Formats: sequence, C-alpha cells, structure tokens
Amino acid sequence: MGEKGTVCVTGAGGYVASWLVKLLLSNGYTVHGTVRDPQNDKNAHLKKLEKASENLKLFKADLLDYNSLSAAITGCDGVFHVACPVPSGSVPNPEARIPRDGTYLQNHLLARHLVFALTSEPMCSVPCCPDCNIYGVLLNPDCLQVELVEPAVKGTLNVLKACSEANVKRVVVVSSVAAVVLSPDWPKGRVKDESCWSDKEYCRRTNVILKPNDCSVIIMDVFFNWYCLSKTEAESEAIEFAKVSGLDVVTVCPSLVLGPMLQPMVNSSSLVLIKLLKGYEELENSSRYIVDARDVAEALLLAYEKPEAKGRYICTAHTIRSQDLVEILRRLYPNYNYPKKFTEANEGEGLSEGLSSEKLQELGWSYRPLEETLVDSIEGYREAGHLD
Ligand SMILES: NC(=O)c1ccc[n+]([C@@H]2O[C@H](COP(=O)([O-])OP(=O)(O)OC[C@H]3O[C@@H](n4cnc5c(N)ncnc54)[C@H](OP(=O)(O)O)[C@@H]3O)[C@@H](O)[C@H]2O)c1
Repeated sequence: MGEKGTVCVTGAGGYVASWLVKLLLSNGYTVHGTVRDPQNDKNAHLKKLEKASENLKLFKADLLDYNSLSAAITGCDGVFHVACPVPSGSVPNPEARIPRDGTYLQNHLLARHLVFALTSEPMCSVPCCPDCNIYGVLLNPDCLQVELVEPAVKGTLNVLKACSEANVKRVVVVSSVAAVVLSPDWPKGRVKDESCWSDKEYCRRTNVILKPNDCSVIIMDVFFNWYCLSKTEAESEAIEFAKVSGLDVVTVCPSLVLGPMLQPMVNSSSLVLIKLLKGYEELENSSRYIVDARDVAEALLLAYEKPEAKGRYICTAHTIRSQDLVEILRRLYPNYNYPKKFTEANEGEGLSEGLSSEKLQELGWSYRPLEETLVDSIEGYREAGHLD
C-alpha cells in the first residue's frame, strides 16, 4: 500500500484524471481508479504509469450506478470526483453538418428547436432553416437533460453519498469555470471570483444563441450553456450535500485545460487546440482562459492535502484573446493551417470580466508558462499522429 493512504479517482482514464492518477501514484498514494470499461484500450495507459502495477487498482463503475461507485470508494481516505460527461468531444466535427454559407439564421422559431445530439449518431437530420439551408439534428431537449445534466448531478450525489457511507475524510469535486462565468448579473468590469455562480435559469433559457454569419457558433453555444448548467447544478448540489451531511467537500473549477495528453483518445478541450491548428477558416476573437492539465492535477492535490482548503477554488492561469493565441502558435509552429480571419466577439455573455485564481494561489498553487503548455501539447499531438 502507498505510504500516503488510499484515494479514489472517478473517471480515471480521462484527460485530467489521468494526470491526477499519475501525480498521486508518484506522491505515494494507493489509487482506486474508476473506469466504465477496464478492458478498453483507451484505459491501457493507466497501467503503464510508474508504480501502477503495485498501487493502482481499477474498478468498473458508472456514475449512475451507486453500488459500483461504493465498491471503489469503500476503504478510501479521500476521493477525487473527476468523471463527468464533457460534451463537445462526443461531436467530433460539428461543423461538418452545417454548411457555413454566411447567411444570417433568421428563423428564430425553428432555431429554438435546434438542439444537437450528444452522440455522433444523429437521431434525425432535418433542414432546420430553409432560408440558409442549415442542417441540424432536431432532438428533444430532454436528451441533453438525460445525457449531460443527470449523470453530472446524480453522479456527483452518488459519489458523495458513497463517500459519507465510507467515512471518507475529504472529497475534492472537479467542477469548472462553466459553473462560474454565465452570470449576467455580475457587476460589469469586476473580476469574477469564487463568489460568482453561473445562473442556472439563464443557462437553460439561452440554449440557442443566434449569431450572424457563423452558424458553427450556434452549436458551441448550445453545448456550452448546457454544460454550464450541468456543472453549476452538480457543484451547487455538492456544496449543499456537504452542508447537510457534514462531509468535507472542496470544489475546484478549472478553465480550458490544455497540455499533453496521457490518454490515447482526444478529449474535448484538447480538440479546441487541435482545431486551432487545422480546423478553422474564421474564428471569433474571444477571451480564453487556459490552464495546464499538470497544474490542474497539482491544484487538486493541494485542495486535498491542505487542511485549510475550504469551499471553491477557481483554477485558471492565462487569459488571452484567440487572435493573440494564434499569433503565439504561429510564431512557435509557422506551418499549420491557422484561421485566416477573426471576427470580434460580443462578450456580453460574461467572459470578458476576467477570472481570479488568487484564492488557489494563496493555498500555494503556481502554474507554468503558457508557451510550455502549448509546445508540450503540440509535440504530444504530433507524436500521437493527431495532427496528420
Ligand atoms: N478539459 C477541460 O477543459 C475542463 C475544464 C474544466 C473542467 N473540466 C472537468 O474536468 C473533468 C474531467 O474532464 P476531462 O477534460 O478530463 O474530460 P474527459 O477526458 O472526457 O474525461 C471525462 C471522464 O468522465 C467519465 N464519464 C463520463 N460519463 C460517465 C459516467 N456516466 N459514468 C462514469 N464515468 C463517466 C469518462 O469515462 P469514459 O472514458 O468511460 O467515457 C471520462 O473518463 C470533468 O468533470 C470536466 O467537467 C474539464
């Protein structure tokens, strides 16, 4: 057994969780990792981590199956709840379904029903807007509730319940800045801190946003707002559960996570960078908040180990506009197919105020330079053939 005791990591094979498992093993913990399919090759990298053969045990568990989670959590001193559906990765190339002919989407009535499936298999593909020939997947919005919100919220409550039953000392829940930023009532110009919460009703109401001349944005917004809803509900329920039960719960809210991948499958946030290198002709010049996966793992460990850690922690390192990010990438790697045109973003959605990780830094957290994250990411993608 690892000298630091035993901890559980849910969704161990995912992008962020894999870095966390690696860090925990190297710091002397025994790790119970939950995965949905222990035999699947996508989890094989975990077994190759240093000290995995002695100190990593994989458990088959689904977030909606309490007993499977409980089996992995029993006997653990601490739990890191990382697993959650993260949508855009399930839609490998959403733009492919939408001809970007630059026409303004005028049919608001139809657009309200333009909700895209989370799976890559559309349930039915229908022309949604005859004026600009936009094709989409017309789907009952309940699907998003079932596929995205329920696993996030019920899954979190299942994990916390199992933690209470097993007398776990501390649970670190991975939330997201998605649970922070969609907050239209936040005072303009004031940097967002841990007291800022995304407005659930606003997330629900704004599930489709119409933007002229860039139909692809519609899909991103649909997913982003529903994802915001799922993370906000899950995190607020976790905090409520802690209040009522007395369980020690700390939440960490990372921004867009980049950096090299340990897992073989490309996850949603890495896809954002890969697409910047080869996927866009035109891009919104919006603010991006970026943090390295390795620094997120360190933040999660601090949140677990520091006795004084309490409440929520925003975990973000770099704020940069898309166009400036592309300029840095172009300087480092001149030969990729970068966006040729930038449109100015309307950042009324609350991404422009800035986000503060001061509270996490006070806990002892620091982060690496952005260039290191970008270079390590791209070298990793190249090695794995993701840029071919
Ligand atoms: N990456 C980012 O930019 C970012 C930013 C902020 C917050 N986060 C949060 O960080 C966490 C990890 O995200 P990630 O980027 O590492 O995504 P990821 O690579 O897609 O990992 C998500 C993990 O959740 C598991 N999962 C999903 N639904 C599940 C279910 N019903 N039962 C059991 N496991 C389930 C997946 O398992 P399978 O492999 O079996 O599908 C996968 O291991 C999430 O909570 C996410 O919201 C990520």
